[in-house]
Amino acid sequence: MNSRKGFIVLTGEVGTGKTTMLECLREMLAEQGTEFAYMFNSRVTADQFLEMIAYELALRCNAKSKVEILNALNEFLITQASRGKTTVLIVDEAHNLDPDVLEEVRMLGNLENAKIGKLLQIILSGQPELDGKLDDPKLRQLKQRIVLRCALKPLSEQQVSEYLNTRLAKAGMPNQKVFPPALITEIHIRTQGIPRIINAVCDNLLLTCFAMEEKLCTMEMLDEVVADMRLEWPTAHSKLGRTLAGFEPAEVFRRNR
Ligand SMILES: Nc1ncnc2c1ncn2[C@@H]1O[C@H](COP(=O)(O)OP(=O)(O)OP(=O)(O)O)[C@@H](O)[C@H]1O
Ligand SMILES: [Mg+2]
Repeated sequence: MNSRKGFIVLTGEVGTGKTTMLECLREMLAEQGTEFAYMFNSRVTADQFLEMIAYELALRCNAKSKVEILNALNEFLITQASRGKTTVLIVDEAHNLDPDVLEEVRMLGNLENAKIGKLLQIILSGQPELDGKLDDPKLRQLKQRIVLRCALKPLSEQQVSEYLNTRLAKAGMPNQKVFPPALITEIHIRTQGIPRIINAVCDNLLLTCFAMEEKLCTMEMLDEVVADMRLEWPTAHSKLGRTLAGFEPAEVFRRNR
């Protein structure tokens, strides 16, 4: 990050934790005293994009004038770099960026100084479509400058188990038994390992368990919760199936044991 190499691209399916990772990064940068601009709204025009950068970095200029923004930005970046500081531009939801804005981003990536080199570290984060967008031949100049591509994958069954155990331990329940291993296997299948869905399903499971005055979450509760949430998951991976004729999944689960 501090070496200001080129573009870094982070992709991941909806709810896999991209924004959460960027939040951690922002905290880290703030602790280090590194200046950064965080662009959370990518449905903007190229001019609005530059205006947002001007606000984020508190540039002293007329934010309505592109020339003034670019001059002020260049000055700001040189001052930071001469102090040995990297400035970082983080763009979340980058899959939504219009080609015009991506072209502007590429130009910002070109800002450099003969002595110092590149002045701005740029991170683009978005859904997997972003990869396809960057493969557009019109953006080949930008593509050539990508030095690192990271893909956030859904959690594996083992990771789901570790995640739930850790969260419950933090909440004061070490060696949790609320979610038995067979249920965790099925939670992994039905949430497809997506952290946002895991959180919502488990939250609802705990609530149901509490409402029923039980100490253990069951398959019946999971069936109810995922039905309420209208969750869909690929049956090919499920050991139980989703639509076995004549049986509710919880019933199949019991029969299979
Ligand atoms: N590694 C993780 N550990 C714990 N919770 C996580 C993790 N990753 C994501 N979450 C939780 O999952 C939810 C979704 O995460 P986040 O918003 O970062 O996903 P995203 O990839 O940015 O999704 P989107 O594509 O919709 O923008 C958040 O509530 C976050 O708390
Ligand atoms: Mg996000």
